[in-house]
Amino acid sequence: MVELTKTGVDGLDDILNGGIVRNSTTLVSGNPGAGKSILGLQYIYNGVKRFGEKGIYLSFEENTEDIRQAAESIGFDDWHHHVEEGDIRIYDKQVLLRENDFSSSLELLLDDLDDKRYERLVLDSLTMFQLFFDNEREQRTYLLKFTDILSENNLTTLMTNEQGTVFPETDIGLENFLTDGNIYLLQTPTDSGVNRYVWVAKMRKQNIDTDIFPMEILEGGLTVHPNASAFSMMSGDDSPL
Ligand SMILES: Nc1ncnc2c1ncn2[C@@H]1O[C@H](COP(=O)(O)OP(=O)(O)OP(=O)(O)O)[C@@H](O)[C@H]1O
Ligand SMILES: [Mg+2]
Repeated sequence: MVELTKTGVDGLDDILNGGIVRNSTTLVSGNPGAGKSILGLQYIYNGVKRFGEKGIYLSFEENTEDIRQAAESIGFDDWHHHVEEGDIRIYDKQVLLRENDFSSSLELLLDDLDDKRYERLVLDSLTMFQLFFDNEREQRTYLLKFTDILSENNLTTLMTNEQGTVFPETDIGLENFLTDGNIYLLQTPTDSGVNRYVWVAKMRKQNIDTDIFPMEILEGGLTVHPNASAFSMMSGDDSPL
């Protein structure tokens, strides 16, 4: 039996057929503003609040105060308290970018990983993390090394990725193949705002629902509507893309 880690995001665990495969790494891709960072915050926060699982949040994009404000903006008012208690461990951009190579950044992390207190990890974003490396071959090697280390330390990981979804115009990056799961967050403009969708394109070892489902970002973060009429990437006219 495959063990699963619940995201705790309403509706998302349903289309994942229960949750994310434990000790795996899932890529969360989408355009700017699609909700990637919010999903990461929710995943870590729900872990602590609802599932008794501590989490590590690595951000190359924001500092601790920005992360706190983003968490509070979706109603996670006691985020800071959990950070102070150590249930949520943050490595923000000030800390991560102080080191100038991957190995020194990793050194910082390894102590925390060693005591196996943490079960969830978010890397926001893989796109920024890859800037540590000079070429695609190095990026690929280190991504594999890193995901192995995370998995060996019993972490179930989400990595955000700045990648749109308009296939085939968008190249599918190697990182999509190298990770265990691929979730896409999509948004399309409307007269009154945006329509948002989620698409779970892949989850190794899991029988998932690969249709595209509507979602919203509200107080509390993302809510997916698994019972609303769904789209398929394969269908023509009714596709949101
Ligand atoms: N409290 C809230 N209520 C409703 N919508 C919100 C709230 N907070 C944020 N949003 C929406 O979520 C979007 C930002 O989501 P998020 O920061 O997760 O995007 P992202 O995919 O990480 O973008 P980027 O690639 O720029 O980092 C905002 O553009 C806003 O529309
Ligand atoms: Mg973001």
